[in-house]
Amino acid sequence: MVMKANELCCFQWIPLCSILLLAPFVCSKNHGNAANDLLDILNKNRTAHKLANLSDNPGLGCIALQYAEQCKANCSRNNTIHCRPKEDDFTEIFAPNCGVELPTFGTISGYILGCQQKYLQPQEAFSQVLVQDQKTLSLLTNGTFTEVGVGIIGRRKHKGPYIWCVLFSNSKTKTTFVLEDLGKGIEQKSGCYSGATLACSGGPKKYAVVMNIWILLLIIIFSFQGFCEHC
Ligand SMILES: *[C@@H]1O[C@H](CO)[C@@H](O)[C@H](O)[C@H]1NC(C)=O
Ligand SMILES: *[C@@H]1O[C@H](CO)[C@@H](O)[C@H](O)[C@H]1NC(C)=O
Ligand SMILES: *[C@@H]1O[C@H](CO)[C@@H](O)[C@H](O)[C@H]1NC(C)=O
Ligand SMILES: *[C@@H]1O[C@H](CO)[C@@H](O)[C@H](O)[C@H]1NC(C)=O
Ligand SMILES: *[C@@H]1O[C@H](CO)[C@@H](O)[C@H](O)[C@H]1NC(C)=O
Repeated sequence: MVMKANELCCFQWIPLCSILLLAPFVCSKNHGNAANDLLDILNKNRTAHKLANLSDNPGLGCIALQYAEQCKANCSRNNTIHCRPKEDDFTEIFAPNCGVELPTFGTISGYILGCQQKYLQPQEAFSQVLVQDQKTLSLLTNGTFTEVGVGIIGRRKHKGPYIWCVLFSNSKTKTTFVLEDLGKGIEQKSGCYSGATLACSGGPKKYAVVMNIWILLLIIIFSFQGFCEHC
């Protein structure tokens, strides 16, 4: 064990360490928020269709998360989902859960809902789950929309099926779906939403595992550095 440690620390710890130090920065580029990633993909597609970007509204994102949350149990084995929360739920349950200031509640003028038993990367979710047919594409490329919010949740913590919800609004930007507490709103216990100031909590387990492996490796590397002083 000590021999091995010496070999590693004397010859290999420098390149290993540089990889370790760089990796977290590469990984944390999008803060692991898949909802933000999906929102970027939606806007790229609109740009490709010569349409204006939709502005990212965190309040609307949180409402989308609530929508997805209420539909958690409605994903079929073959990855189809039909789920329409009651009209009143938006203002009576979703908005209060998010801390959206009620007088600023705008118009929700379109939605895309999709689900998948296993976790997909946002790009795959976009093309394989959410925008598969002409009808959804024409919704996404509707010129009257101004704002968008994305919510994602797994049925159980870190487990599928995963529900993806995109809400569109044609209300005036900046003054609708305003989150109380200077835009912070109420912290969500699970899932992700776009524009959140807080990191998402219900991300797939994979990310947590990867982070833990990095931390473990870092600890090992630092112990080897300790050994190095003796070689
Ligand atoms: C949309 O936003 C992206 C990045 O923020 C930008 O590169 C692009 O030019 C914008 N598109 C339009 C049509 O404004
Ligand atoms: C998917 O499953 C639902 C119910 O489980 C069923 O009604 C529907 O026909 C299925 N769709 C396909 C394409 O198999
Ligand atoms: C979800 O599915 C259940 C039963 O399958 C149904 O009773 C419920 O109305 C659905 N939820 C919504 C919001 O559509
Ligand atoms: C765009 O969405 C609005 C509802 O917000 C709808 O009335 C209109 O028909 C849609 N336009 C197209 C081209 O689908
Ligand atoms: C927008 O996305 C849809 C669904 O993936 C795709 O079929 C379409 O070609 C994209 N549009 C452009 C201009 O890239």
